[in-house]
Amino acid sequence: MTHLVLVGLMGSGKSSVGEHCATLLGRPFVDTDELVAATAGATVPEIFAAQGETGFRALERTAVADVCASPEPLVIACGGGAVLDPDNRRQLRDHGVVVWLRAGTDELARRVGAGDGRPLLQGGSPAATLARLAELRAPAYEAVAHVVVDTDGLEVGAVTDRVLEEFRSWTS
Ligand code: S3P
Repeated sequence: MTHLVLVGLMGSGKSSVGEHCATLLGRPFVDTDELVAATAGATVPEIFAAQGETGFRALERTAVADVCASPEPLVIACGGGAVLDPDNRRQLRDHGVVVWLRAGTDELARRVGAGDGRPLLQGGSPAATLARLAELRAPAYEAVAHVVVDTDGLEVGAVTDRVLEEFRSWTS
């Protein structure tokens, strides 16, 4: 089974691009944040508040393992920090074509606004946090990605076209 896996920082467009890709490929779309929330019966901010980031990452690891193991080919959007875990990276690479949706910090900051619903963006400047995370996480995104798609200045439709073009060339 070859899943199409989208990774990237918060605001990189994984969910909106993922949904478009899923429609065009005729596959189910799964967002690991939504899976974690459904399994826990709580929102991501509630999980962070009750169990901290460590608790959230443990649930996220299970979600990543579950989606990777799906016998049905999926389009998977991973929460921005899922790739920090080496086991998650290995599973995603082994079971899918991994596309890193990359964008500059200014564009990401514009897209996330005040960071509502994103615990890591609370209590500081979202732009500054995104810049710090971009630097910290670039090696993990590089390690997991088969393909990089630069999304700066592109609409969702154009990013979707590029992602699908790459996906088809990797799976043909
Ligand atoms: C996180 C990104 C979020 C969510 C959680 C932590 C991160 O997902 O998993 O708030 O560490 O970057 P999105 O990238 O879908 O916003």
